[in-house]
Amino acid sequence: MKVFTTIKTIQEELSTINEKMQLGLVPTMGALHAGHLSIIEKAIEENDLIVVTIFVNPTQFDKQEDLLNYPNRTKSDLNLLEEANCDFVFMPSIDEMYSTKVKADTFDFDGLDKVMEGAFREGHFNGVGTIVKKLFEIISPDRAYFGEKDFQQLQIIKKMVTKNKFDIKIISCKIYREKNGLALSSRNARLSPEQMLDAPLIYQTLLSSKGLFLNEDVEIVKDMVKNEIDKSAHLKLEYFEIADVETLIPAKNKSADKKYRAFIGVYADKVRLIDNIALN
Ligand code: PAJ
Repeated sequence: MKVFTTIKTIQEELSTINEKMQLGLVPTMGALHAGHLSIIEKAIEENDLIVVTIFVNPTQFDKQEDLLNYPNRTKSDLNLLEEANCDFVFMPSIDEMYSTKVKADTFDFDGLDKVMEGAFREGHFNGVGTIVKKLFEIISPDRAYFGEKDFQQLQIIKKMVTKNKFDIKIISCKIYREKNGLALSSRNARLSPEQMLDAPLIYQTLLSSKGLFLNEDVEIVKDMVKNEIDKSAHLKLEYFEIADVETLIPAKNKSADKKYRAFIGVYADKVRLIDNIALN
């Protein structure tokens, strides 16, 4: 496994690769867990060579506190990547990626960024778009892998690829969960033992919402979710939406010809957890 910290050196390495070799890219912010590793495994299976990037992108954090508390586990990350048989790691500094202008560009994502995560985290998706676009331009992969854990991010990146006419296939990867259903996240490490006990309620409630959605209206499902999350002393509902998978516009009524997904954002004190599930 080769590790690069500058754009120049990774591009030099990639320029020596035979054009026929398929290159996969897995962007991450590090603090790697089994969810990341499941994506990396898929990327390894489907490509000749893969690049994993580790970069805690400052422009996508709406809260300074969240950025400062973001776990840094470079040494163990590199060990995990070596064990996983990753070929190349790109872990640049902030200066390397942003030079003197640590600022996000503004994107038009056709409204995909106006709801849910976008509504509650100002500027977040412009930050994500900025860094992922830079990574695509530096690495030029054939395929890039993103988790459905961040389903809104996945749809926004697909939109960015179409609008910029990037010749990159975006591959979506299933959500990796603990046995109790909790979606793996780097933020789970910040949960107290009591919060950890209640956190599986998030996925249990999503499963209940899926069952109820078969026969009930959107508003009834929303009320149920609010009541269920309210039962926990450690969790606070930020939002629950049932949205069209393509436009991400929250639904008020069900339409038989549309595909829906349920999206949830929950606070456990200062730790923000998100999850989602396909409904039909
Ligand atoms: P990060 O949160 O590190 O996630 C990296 C990738 O892993 C994302 O595509 C995310 O959706 C996926 N992922 C995280 N938890 C997962 C789980 N439990 N199951 C499946 N996939 C999971 O998302 C980001 O970083 C950043 O926004 C990034 C795209 C790297 C841009 O900075």
